[in-house]
Amino acid sequence: MYEVPETLKGRHLTRIADWSADEVALVLDLADELKRAQQIRESHRLLLDRTLVMIFDKPSMRTRVSFGAGIVQLGGLTVQLDRDEIMLGERETVRDAAAVLSRYADGIMIRTSSQATVDELADYAAVPVINGLTDEEHPCQALADVLTIRERFGGLDGVRVAYVGDGNNVCTSLMLASAKLGASLAVATPPGYEPPDAAVAAAGANVTNDPREAAAGANVLYTDVWTSMGHEAERKQRLRDFDGYGIRDELVALAAPDAIVMHDLPAHYGEEITEEILHGPQSAVWDQAENRLHAQKAVMALVMR
Ligand code: CP
Ligand code: NVA
Repeated sequence: MYEVPETLKGRHLTRIADWSADEVALVLDLADELKRAQQIRESHRLLLDRTLVMIFDKPSMRTRVSFGAGIVQLGGLTVQLDRDEIMLGERETVRDAAAVLSRYADGIMIRTSSQATVDELADYAAVPVINGLTDEEHPCQALADVLTIRERFGGLDGVRVAYVGDGNNVCTSLMLASAKLGASLAVATPPGYEPPDAAVAAAGANVTNDPREAAAGANVLYTDVWTSMGHEAERKQRLRDFDGYGIRDELVALAAPDAIVMHDLPAHYGEEITEEILHGPQSAVWDQAENRLHAQKAVMALVMR
């Protein structure tokens, strides 16, 4: 059976910044092992009979299915609560929900807008809380992203990651996770859509308003939607502001010849990327999406022991 260290037992994953480079590497190493096990259908029931509660305040496909399938593959089960059922902070306080859910479950995964809600849940929960996306961060996505980059390039040291688009939750977590493992970051956004200063400083990222500058020589060309969940009312304005910031053939041609293209999905064709590029030879997005499963299984196995 697997050597799963106890060092991360009981830990929350609310932000990438809270985990050290060694802890992230531990996740990736276990994810590699669990991926191999899943591929050869070798049993790896590291969380036998453990329960994960999943709270979804926002839509999801990848996060929902990868956590749901992942916990079952580890021998556990999920209970899912959607927005209208739990009404977190409305029907009862976050503190009370944390106290009760901690008596039923061995871990809580939550997708909601407010990072403060996730932090509060973690403050009061007696079991690990995993951030499945907030407006500020998407740490599980970032772990799958760095797992994918490591698979393709053997490591992240010296890898040039260029993110073009909205300086949002996905951009923030990607910057923090990949810089932690030694990558260099270049980010191109329209004026006013830059990622938060603290994340830029922590990642030592180069931020520009010129997508060509960011893409030049990049090993990884990454993008995400221009209109994130919750910003739908700004969509028309955003389409105007982001014009020229999409991943197109000309931009890919500026990257390194063996560069990979990444996107956390879902994609909006003709906006931040084209269907041809997403399904083209340089795209790593399907491995990236698959790696959500393996990275999150590793996180759960490490924190929910
Ligand atoms: N990338 C991602 O988190 O996808 P979902 O919104 O479908 O979960
Ligand atoms: N930035 C996007 C990511 C979706 C997975 C959003 O927050 O909607």
